[in-house]
Amino acid sequence: MKILHQIQQTFSVPLHYPVLFTRKAFSEENECLAEVLAPIETERPEGERRRVMVFVDSGVDQAFPEWTRDITQWFASRADRLDLVCEPEVLPGGETMKNDYRCVMSLVDKMLEYHLCRHSIVLVVGGGAVLDAAGFAVSLVHRGLRLVRMPSTTLAQNDAGIGVKNGMNLHGGKNTVGVFAAPHAVVNDLALLDGLSDTDWRAGISEAFKVAMIKDAAFFQELCDMAPALGQRDEQAMERLVIRCAELHLRHIATSGDPFELGSARPLDFGHWSAHKLESLSNYRIGHGHAVAIGLAIDSQYAARMGWLPPETAETVIKALQTCGFDLHVPELDLQLGDGRPAVLQGLDEFREHLGGRLTLSLPHPIGQTGEIHEVDESLMAECLHLPQRNTAQSQK
Ligand SMILES: NC(=O)c1ccc[n+]([C@@H]2O[C@H](COP(=O)([O-])OP(=O)(O)OC[C@H]3O[C@@H](n4cnc5c(N)ncnc54)[C@H](O)[C@@H]3O)[C@@H](O)[C@H]2O)c1
Ligand SMILES: [Zn+2]
Repeated sequence: MKILHQIQQTFSVPLHYPVLFTRKAFSEENECLAEVLAPIETERPEGERRRVMVFVDSGVDQAFPEWTRDITQWFASRADRLDLVCEPEVLPGGETMKNDYRCVMSLVDKMLEYHLCRHSIVLVVGGGAVLDAAGFAVSLVHRGLRLVRMPSTTLAQNDAGIGVKNGMNLHGGKNTVGVFAAPHAVVNDLALLDGLSDTDWRAGISEAFKVAMIKDAAFFQELCDMAPALGQRDEQAMERLVIRCAELHLRHIATSGDPFELGSARPLDFGHWSAHKLESLSNYRIGHGHAVAIGLAIDSQYAARMGWLPPETAETVIKALQTCGFDLHVPELDLQLGDGRPAVLQGLDEFREHLGGRLTLSLPHPIGQTGEIHEVDESLMAECLHLPQRNTAQSQK
């Protein structure tokens, strides 16, 4: 058909948001969050206060039962500029919300019920799953309210909570529905990490290995050196890991040229094709961070078979992840389909479908740099699902 007339529309909107690190954000004297919600310098008409609604992950509520009260008191003592529209609402932690559309829509209902407007702020305190699901709900109300995230897990502070993605799981797949929307700000309260179970505390470590292996060889070495300390739940090592990992993720989003993932390459999804599949195969018994650790072990071995990594480096990765406490063999790796194909390899099909067009897997080539492949030798990959004999013995200790 002939185009009768064309108008080329072009504009750009610079996106910027602070990612702040603090401790005990709701202690009386801490102004970090208040400066994000309603900067004191900003001129406001007399009596105008910023309306804020707060959602809190049930994991945080259980680990810090005094928190909801602290939040309410903290807002009350800043009532000249902040208006907490209702008591903080506790949301089910983990994938529960992300898996349930009705749960997400109930947040939309609540925001409308309290007449939040486009100047209001929704503050969400939680792990990656609650942040994803609540952030998605926030993006729908009035076509997107201001979202302040307060990530409460290691993985959310160094990855899930600091970027531009929000969403939920539908049709049995991970993150099948969602939006790209930048937050208004992110406040990482490092004291929240004290409440985590060992499993959830460990979860952020694999995302740090992921980004280090494809972007920063020096950080990879540092992580390997810190592995024994991380295995012992060393707070200082974790803080260093979280901050450096967050820097690398944010730099990638800002400088990769594809913040909204329109292209086919996804360097930050290194190790994730199998991770997402393992999560859903296990009905989310295996958490994201644990699944990514297994995914890194698989893809590192594959990179070594391709000659992109020395075999010793793949072994170093596996050993370091095990030293941090990850169990790299789970029964889901042994599941087979009727034709004998390992079920986890379906993750390749799903990743291809998600990307659209050509399959693109990012792998370290060498450590600290990224290479891409578009075809996978499935029988070789099937061999990489299992650990080399030496490491298997170690993981059974
Ligand atoms: N949007 C993104 O860019 C992005 C990136 C990576 C991962 N993700 C998503 O993030 C999710 C995983 O996030 P996660 O690892 O934070 O796990 P999670 O959100 O499932 O939280 C793990 C558990 O920790 C609890 N919890 C949270 N904070 C706590 C605290 N301070 N003390 C005690 N318990 C606490 C939660 O209730 C939950 O039971 C997955 O759904 C994944 O797909 C999103
Ligand atoms: Zn991830």
